Amino acid sequence: MPNAIVVHEFGGPEVMKWEEVALPKPGPGEAHIAQTKVGLNFIDVYQRNGVYPLDLPATIGMEGVGIVDAIGDGVDEVKPGDRVGYVMGPAGSYAESRVYPASRLIKLPDDIDDATAAAMLLKGLTAAYLLTRTYQVKKGDTVLFHAAAGGVGLIACQWLDKIGANVIGTVSSEEKAELAKAHGCHNPVIYTKEDFADKVLELTSGEGVPVVYDGVGKDTFDGSLKALGDFGTLVSFGAASGAPPAVPVKLLAGKALYLTRPGLAPHTATPERTQDLADRLFQAVRDGVKIEINQIFALRDAAAAHSALENRQTTGSTIFNVD
Ligand SMILES: NC(=O)c1ccc[n+]([C@@H]2O[C@H](COP(=O)([O-])OP(=O)(O)OC[C@H]3O[C@@H](n4cnc5c(N)ncnc54)[C@H](OP(=O)(O)O)[C@@H]3O)[C@@H](O)[C@H]2O)c1
Repeated sequence: MPNAIVVHEFGGPEVMKWEEVALPKPGPGEAHIAQTKVGLNFIDVYQRNGVYPLDLPATIGMEGVGIVDAIGDGVDEVKPGDRVGYVMGPAGSYAESRVYPASRLIKLPDDIDDATAAAMLLKGLTAAYLLTRTYQVKKGDTVLFHAAAGGVGLIACQWLDKIGANVIGTVSSEEKAELAKAHGCHNPVIYTKEDFADKVLELTSGEGVPVVYDGVGKDTFDGSLKALGDFGTLVSFGAASGAPPAVPVKLLAGKALYLTRPGLAPHTATPERTQDLADRLFQAVRDGVKIEINQIFALRDAAAAHSALENRQTTGSTIFNVD
């Protein structure tokens, strides 16, 4: 029987238990995957603590990589032996093996190894839709990206730099500022030491930026609105510090702002949408975007990984070894 991380009650990292689970068999439209690597993402924390509640007991996790070793009836998208990865639901990637809808699988090119795929698929597809669909960043745009040294942040900063944007990124320490700077963030701002909105206005001669990408949420939301220029777009895509506040619509009126709360689920709702993002991501990596795997844990040690992520001790991507 395979092992998996099982959550029986919502709570802190300690609620994750490494247990034997029933050996799943693929049903119609499903593939069975022998997993090699699993990606750690902030959404796993929300699933573990009940912010995004799953039916319990549950195996959390939205990103995995491995080899297809069996397929159910009617599957023609993949075959046994294919190397694949996936992002988003159904949850359950914190497992040695699992079944998953075959139509949602992404076939991995030979030049993307398993570890890199697990480190970049969810975060990189997110960066891809944020920068090319939610707001199409153009050469010369000045962009504010929060948590610039984080998983999504390090990929996004490099990608923005390649587009030719001027990147302002927030971080919580000098070390993270240096790391972000080495990955395309031209102006790191330590938002635990200085008012980032004032700094953005200073850097833009009072104009503000056309777009803010905010995955931090509660602690940055108001400042993000302040940092925008006229007709600016606030992309609120996460809540690492807690949920952002409810917003009275009239708050947007003064600068005629746009506010959007995008998610990866609709952006990967069809194989075409997913493949389009994956192709953009694979190309970005071939063009030089580096996927930094700065923390590696054994899957059974998921609690330590969650503690590190929640305590702002990680940078770049974190993966779990399954094999
Ligand atoms: N909507 C979507 O499609 C989508 C997809 C993927 C990820 N996301 C969101 O994007 C954000 C980044 O995800 P990620 O997996 O790449 O995580 P991450 O950026 O590697 O980690 C979160 C970072 O947020 C910053 N942060 C600020 N306040 C924090 C607090 N109170 N507690 C913890 N961290 C805090 C920390 O950086 P500093 O120490 O530098 O402040 C921390 O390293 C998350 O909010 C996630 O939910 C959204």
